[in-house]
Amino acid sequence: MTTNTTMKVPLLDLKAHHAPLMGEILEAIKGVAESNAFILGPQTKQLEASVAAYSNTRHAIGLSSGSDALLAALMALDLKPGDEVITPTYSFFATAGAVARLGAKPVLADIDLSTFNIDVKQIEKLITKKTRAIIPVHLYGQCADMKPILAIAAKHGLKVVEDAAQSIGAEYSDGKRAGSMGDIGCFSFFPSKNLGCWGDGGMVVAQNDALGEKLEVLRSHGSKPKYHHKIIGGNFRLDEIQSAVLNVKLKHLDSWTAKRQANAKLYTKLFRSAGLDKKGVTLPEPVYAASGAKHFHIYNQYVLLVPRRDEMKAFLAEKGIGSEIYYPVPFHMQECFRYLGYRQGDFPLAEKAASTSLALPIYPELTQEQQAYVVETIAAFLK
Ligand SMILES: Cc1ncc(COP(=O)(O)O)c(C=O)c1O
Repeated sequence: MTTNTTMKVPLLDLKAHHAPLMGEILEAIKGVAESNAFILGPQTKQLEASVAAYSNTRHAIGLSSGSDALLAALMALDLKPGDEVITPTYSFFATAGAVARLGAKPVLADIDLSTFNIDVKQIEKLITKKTRAIIPVHLYGQCADMKPILAIAAKHGLKVVEDAAQSIGAEYSDGKRAGSMGDIGCFSFFPSKNLGCWGDGGMVVAQNDALGEKLEVLRSHGSKPKYHHKIIGGNFRLDEIQSAVLNVKLKHLDSWTAKRQANAKLYTKLFRSAGLDKKGVTLPEPVYAASGAKHFHIYNQYVLLVPRRDEMKAFLAEKGIGSEIYYPVPFHMQECFRYLGYRQGDFPLAEKAASTSLALPIYPELTQEQQAYVVETIAAFLK
């Protein structure tokens, strides 16, 4: 390998990602503009049908963001102040934020460091009389270990809301896709997601008809029929322009996933052949690989655990390589959750992930040369 000091490797290259589809997307947006149907029109209906089919669910309801998807999901389950919801301490803020916004209590669990997902062994001992639900997060594009989670939920009469914001299309086992296994699944279409729109957007999916219908009503202030409110909802709607963008992009999602998976495979090969797995770099290894799951890990992120992480990030930046720290502060260390009474040291594996994880560029348009340059640069740093 030769060092190419002029090479740039951004964390994500949305310009390259959208370039081949630019004409088609602009045409679709023009169609919305000309129709003047901006809210809950045919584009959103089409997207909902496509995502339901893609995720193997009966219902899909377009919402304003992944954060609102989590909030609406918990509202649909009638979460009340004082209720408890078990979540991992290591995720994007919205997972626990949605629980707290409804006055309920996030009850935190540590993670399994080999997947960054909730440590299933911790869940049962956290259950109290007040526990209402579990929110497993399918972090970085890999499903949490859903079989035991669903068994625990069934045993204790708990609801399961899947935070699938980063994992649309990921499979846990044959045909069982992210979002389709619990009571409600939540997706985000934030631009950096594998299926991202041109602004904010999200979606919930559900198998149960009553829940699906309730979620649909909730996104328009609980109004049904119009101006009559049996329940209190919010304005959680996905707009037509975002749906139009997503309808164009969804057709390509599987091919992008395949490229992300190929990139992950190549990284792993390059890191191993450079011997970096022996120099303190922990590579992501999918571990719940169930039979027949084609899209087992969809690599929204490719996350290493590395020594001298902050220095390494700065070194990479100097060499033109983007990287990111997801997530530097676990929920139990967040100032806004101090009232929950956790302390540093309560969740050592999440703390280890927070202090040593580094996400590398993994986007579909990444070239082999760029990947070689990333690995070579990390090798140079660790020398
Ligand atoms: C795990 C997780 N949950 C929830 C969200 C919230 O989604 P959004 O940014 O669309 O509100 C995100 C996205 O950033 C996420 O990564």
